[in-house]
Amino acid sequence: MDIQKCQAELLARPRNWLITGVAGFVGSNLLERLLTLNQKVSGLDNLSTGYRHNLESVRALVTPEQWSSFRFIEGDIRNLPICRSAVEGVDYVLHQAAMGSVPRSMLDPISTHENNVNGFLNILVAARDARVRRLVYASSSSVYGDQPDLPKVEENTGNPLSPYAATKQINELYAGVFARCYAMQLIGLRYFNIFGPRQDPDGAYAAVIPLWFKALLKHEPLYIYGDGETSRDFCYVENAIQANLLAAMTSEPGATGKSYNIAVGERTTLSGLFNLIHDEVLQFAPDIKDRAPEFKEFRHGDIRHSLADITKAKRYIGYAPTHTVRDGLKLAASYYVGLFTNAGYSVHS
Ligand SMILES: NC(=O)c1ccc[n+]([C@@H]2O[C@H](COP(=O)([O-])OP(=O)(O)OC[C@H]3O[C@@H](n4cnc5c(N)ncnc54)[C@H](O)[C@@H]3O)[C@@H](O)[C@H]2O)c1
Repeated sequence: MDIQKCQAELLARPRNWLITGVAGFVGSNLLERLLTLNQKVSGLDNLSTGYRHNLESVRALVTPEQWSSFRFIEGDIRNLPICRSAVEGVDYVLHQAAMGSVPRSMLDPISTHENNVNGFLNILVAARDARVRRLVYASSSSVYGDQPDLPKVEENTGNPLSPYAATKQINELYAGVFARCYAMQLIGLRYFNIFGPRQDPDGAYAAVIPLWFKALLKHEPLYIYGDGETSRDFCYVENAIQANLLAAMTSEPGATGKSYNIAVGERTTLSGLFNLIHDEVLQFAPDIKDRAPEFKEFRHGDIRHSLADITKAKRYIGYAPTHTVRDGLKLAASYYVGLFTNAGYSVHS
């Protein structure tokens, strides 16, 4: 099934969805798409790294009628009764809630584990008991750990290099167990550096793309950790939305019970990324012409290179990324320019 057919099917017969982590970056983008497709959506979030203003942004982008099909539950996936009430009457779960960031997990492995592993187990148990049709969950490219081969193929994971990576490997282990023991339909999506509108530019654990847009637009220092040759498969959020919808809806035999790389299959070095972002921002802010990054020590736990083989997602769920890195950065640029040139912007507004 391709994404057009998938969306047409959803429009023709709306389903009930639960998005965990709905107030976060990926979750709020999923919410926007599902509401635009006239779906009924419940969203669960404890607002630890997500924001009410993300939900308000979605509200402004959909019709009042579409918005009325959304139920927000402010609650924690570490609380099983809350998970049970969130999955009631739900057909599909898109599980995004987690404590992200490798560096945060190095400083605080216990709360990373409690949120990412205990919380995930609660969602699995609740979804099993409520007999949801399928659960699609956010895994991560970090599961490849010290496995050096490029591109990354799903079968060859390595030793995790951070507590965060360990939690995502454990999620995949539990998903396998629940598929085997309880015949649940589960699909893991190994996101590779997703970026786009509503990704948080603030705080100690901000991801590189929003951080650099902010640094350029607000004339703040901009750092590259390492020599600039570290590379990633940066993936615009539209591609991740597509993957979630396809994973939930595919009827391809053998598609469930697996994890898939979700990326573009395009490798960009950090120095290359800086140049791309600089080019985009320059069109809005000519005064950044001479800005250059400062180089700092490599960060502990960071993987040197990352590039996905996306053949398996193409084969089983019909995934076909529509946005290259450059396409995505163009769209992200107009979002961040709007955000930072808006007089109302303040940190954690
Ligand atoms: N953004 C990426 O590049 C990327 C890459 C790989 C994997 N992922 C995974 O994708 C998912 C979404 O990431 P994101 O970038 O949108 O992060 P995010 O921090 O913007 O969103 C996560 C959301 O989950 C919520 N949350 C956290 N713990 C919770 C809990 N215990 N109970 C309820 N809600 C909770 C947060 O408040 C937040 O709104 C995460 O599972 C993350 O690990 C993201």
